Amino acid sequence: MQRRRFIRFAAGIFALGTAPLLGRGGHAATLKRYQRVKLVDAQGNGIKTAALKKDESYLFFYPYMGTPCFLLNLGAQHDGLRLASAYGNPCGWPGGIGADRSIVAYAAICTHQVTRPSPKKSFINYNPKGGKSGEASGRITCCLHGSMFDPAQGGKVVGGPAPQALTAIELDYDEATDGIHAVGTHGGEVFKAYFKAYRKELRQEFGTALALQESSGEAVVMRMSDYTKRQFFC
Ligand code: FES
Repeated sequence: MQRRRFIRFAAGIFALGTAPLLGRGGHAATLKRYQRVKLVDAQGNGIKTAALKKDESYLFFYPYMGTPCFLLNLGAQHDGLRLASAYGNPCGWPGGIGADRSIVAYAAICTHQVTRPSPKKSFINYNPKGGKSGEASGRITCCLHGSMFDPAQGGKVVGGPAPQALTAIELDYDEATDGIHAVGTHGGEVFKAYFKAYRKELRQEFGTALALQESSGEAVVMRMSDYTKRQFFC
């Protein structure tokens, strides 16, 4: 953890007691660790947070080879917070990373009925500008049944039938290189239901059983629009 950030976090804890806002690193109890995986581009070069454009959706696969995640630059700093009951149990979300603390990541799997991006289409998308009414601005929306999640607030549900927040991905930031590693998840996971629902498709897309393997080493980050042919916004 960055030293400056730790000091700020520690000071905040002692000053605020059980206040809801928390800094990065204060959520060890809610972090489920997976393998530490470096985020890289298609050439194998480490992704730099400065290269991630605001309003662009990026995708990588983590914590399993077949589980898609959004990587987003929200364009503004977002501190960690505690989600009181979004997952059934209180859960911490560590906030954004990067020099501006604006980079976040979430499993791109709807917690309602595990809708996901596929190479053909995606009903679940980050919607930086919103629809006609503007209400979905800055949300991750799932157009299958209208669920909305707020990536600036730990992926919490802000509309529709989804019963719980998106699974947040813990990112480690390396100040020296501006690089990113994914290291685990926060909150409820729907990976089992996801693998069950898409067993046949994932076999075709990733090869037998590869999708179920834990990610390791490196994960390639791509633009969402390069991964999926058609994105649906609502
Ligand atoms: S599957 Fe996403 S809202 Fe129903």
